[in-house]
Amino acid sequence: MSTFPASIHLPLVFTSLYLLSACASGPTTPAPAMALRYSVPDQAMQPEAASGRSAQTGWAFTRQAVAAANPLATDAGHQVLRAGGSALDAAIAVQMVLGLVEPQSSGIGGGAFLLHFDGQKVTAHDGRETAPAGARPDMLLNAQGQPLPFQEAVQSGHAVGVPGVVRMLEVAHRQHGRLPWSQLFGPAIALAEQGFAVSPRLHSLLQADPLLRQDPLALRFFYQPDGQAWPVGHVLRNPEYAHVLRRIAEDGSRALHEGPVAQAIVQRTQAPPRPGSLSLQDLRDYQPKVREALCFEHSALQRHYRICGFPPPSSGQIAVGQVLGMLKHTTAQGAELVQGQPSADWLHRYSEASRLAFADRAQYVADPDFVAAPAGHWHSLLAPDYLRQRSQLIGPRAMASAPAGQPAGTRSSWAPMPAQTEYGTSHISVVDARGRAVAMTTTIEAAFGARRMVSTSASRAGGFLLNNEMTDFSFAPADAQGRPIANRVEPGKRPRSSMSPTLVFDAATGQLLMSGGSPGGALIIHYTAKWLTGTLHWGLNAQQAINLPNFGTLGGPVVLETQGFDKATVDALTARGHTVRETDMTSGLQAIERTPSGWFGGADPRREGVVMGD
Ligand code: GLY
Repeated sequence: MSTFPASIHLPLVFTSLYLLSACASGPTTPAPAMALRYSVPDQAMQPEAASGRSAQTGWAFTRQAVAAANPLATDAGHQVLRAGGSALDAAIAVQMVLGLVEPQSSGIGGGAFLLHFDGQKVTAHDGRETAPAGARPDMLLNAQGQPLPFQEAVQSGHAVGVPGVVRMLEVAHRQHGRLPWSQLFGPAIALAEQGFAVSPRLHSLLQADPLLRQDPLALRFFYQPDGQAWPVGHVLRNPEYAHVLRRIAEDGSRALHEGPVAQAIVQRTQAPPRPGSLSLQDLRDYQPKVREALCFEHSALQRHYRICGFPPPSSGQIAVGQVLGMLKHTTAQGAELVQGQPSADWLHRYSEASRLAFADRAQYVADPDFVAAPAGHWHSLLAPDYLRQRSQLIGPRAMASAPAGQPAGTRSSWAPMPAQTEYGTSHISVVDARGRAVAMTTTIEAAFGARRMVSTSASRAGGFLLNNEMTDFSFAPADAQGRPIANRVEPGKRPRSSMSPTLVFDAATGQLLMSGGSPGGALIIHYTAKWLTGTLHWGLNAQQAINLPNFGTLGGPVVLETQGFDKATVDALTARGHTVRETDMTSGLQAIERTPSGWFGGADPRREGVVMGD
């Protein structure tokens, strides 16, 4: 894949004034005209509601590029790259701005997975939230031992995990940073103090959120006195966030994990409803982990790739690898797009492979520090023989139920985890002029997380939101027969994730070809698979692949993006025995890919992301 189709070198069209940095232009930056639309997310699968769609054709650069979910955040990363910063430096600056301008998706109260390529090797930095020492396996059950309703669990203090993103970035910065740590906070501090224009997406999510107004701090900060969300373009200043960032810039992650900020986190977590156990000790003890990236080889259009992603506690890379690995033994292999869409036959086989992958995910994947991989290594779930054998379950019609497999040598007595709501999240991709790259997916779980805002001061407005990542654990610790579920709550454990930051390499030369990923709860797996299939199998550029209609399944119905597919496709899938549901599927893919002349970036038209570079 040293070249992508010629059609990729398209002009930048997303040139709204909104792209201008508020750091440079002051706080009156207007927001873009964008069709506003809100629809209630399907609680079974949608992380964040839709907020409209803008035309996107992609961005071309020669030396370096950064892609993120908000123009102000992308701009912060771009400033850092231009100042000679590394890809990792840029990602830190982006994250700090995202926590301000896209507070629904990620922030310093949450966690992240970061893949870093240093020109030679890939390192997986795990900043996933951990369960407090006082967490109990039944903490997400009601008095009758039944799983709490999801929203009740989200708002409970038990939902909050020990945040990990800042400490993880600090450790990664020691290894891969070029600019001083403190310098990377400048753009976010300036924006927080001067204010930023509320974006259409932030406005529509604030307006529609049923829970955030119940938090007094969030109500005062995000809403007008009459309870309406601040309008699009309103200049929102967050002096408390600026204050906390200044402390982190000066003292590092200690400023978050100890002292007044830590005390405020504990106080907010231990407040009603259902006070949690998160303690000062939990915050002090938090340690990010460096893991071995999980990579597999993949061939498409006579080219050979090495696709690297995040190992457990993420389930993303395993599921994506399984789906791609099973499809190559079916008629889906070599299938082309029909009138710009995947065909019904391809969607059928993709869905069947996905159902098998989700069955394995439910059975096996959990924090590797607590749960052994089947047959001793997660690669057992990606072994070519195993996937060939699994693919034989895919026939012309939908299978009645998709069972988990048993890789050779497996001795597992886990009960499968029931399907449950999963949320999230934001993605950052960066390539720098020295050939370093980052793919980082970052989250506070649900939109606006646990709806608990942290502040250290009664007089400063704003603050930051805490995650509800503990609801990524199985609410039920065991099945009806008492067999334990691998992804049950345990003290100090990290909940299973679907986040799939991905780096793609030429298998022969080791040259980096792409960096990408998406938010979207469990649907992240499908968004990532769509981007990879679109670019590697269908010859699309990153933007074209991102623009394709979304599709997927979490094991049950086939889900298709509303208005993405024609009736004939829906009817053909139904005729094969699938239940088909059409709904908004709000992916937020960001991807950067190598071209003959440098780099080309794509950002998801379903959100507000842009790519910048030089
Ligand atoms: N909370 C989203 C994920 O980790 O998959």
